[in-house]
Amino acid sequence: MARFAVFASGTGSNFEALARAFEPTAAQPHQLAALVSDRRSAAVLEKSQQRGIPAYFIPYSIADRTVFEQAAITILRGLRVDLVVLAGFMRVLTRLFLSTFPRRIVNIHPSLLPAYPGTNAIEKSFGSPDSELGVTVHFVDEGLDSGEVIARESFLRTGVETLAEIEARIHSIEHSLYPAVVRDLLDATRGN
Ligand code: GRF
Repeated sequence: MARFAVFASGTGSNFEALARAFEPTAAQPHQLAALVSDRRSAAVLEKSQQRGIPAYFIPYSIADRTVFEQAAITILRGLRVDLVVLAGFMRVLTRLFLSTFPRRIVNIHPSLLPAYPGTNAIEKSFGSPDSELGVTVHFVDEGLDSGEVIARESFLRTGVETLAEIEARIHSIEHSLYPAVVRDLLDATRGN
């Protein structure tokens, strides 16, 4: 068995997709062990509580990022978490956290990286001349959406779609791609 934690700051639709994919059943070898959020009002916290998944709110201060990271490390070590899955977590992690979980932190981004890193990636993709749009899952490094790519899934747009339609398509890809990639990574982990 391998365990993972999700870090999220917002709505939590990817968290929900992961929670559904890793529902605890007799046949389920892996466990979504915790949700960590840096925003007290994040809707994802309630989603986690409703599902009975331990949810931790840890305040984040830009003045001292290590306070959040140390608290998170303590929780994750206590739960013996093998993989940290960022899903709409709006903070850049420092070397302290990254070195604690080397090649064990992944993120999903709603563009075909390296195109359009950072915020508003869907709007930027939509407003671009690109005909191929999509989603990237990557390992997390100290940069902004710059880590090694693990998986990409793309689609061709016709050009008549609205922004809302493109957003829906991207989120729907995220909700199938991310659980599949996380499952592969957990399968490759011995766990403890
Ligand atoms: C997703 O589009 C993800 O790619 C990006 O942040 C968004 C989070 O959405 N990193 P949600 O909170 O999972 O609904």
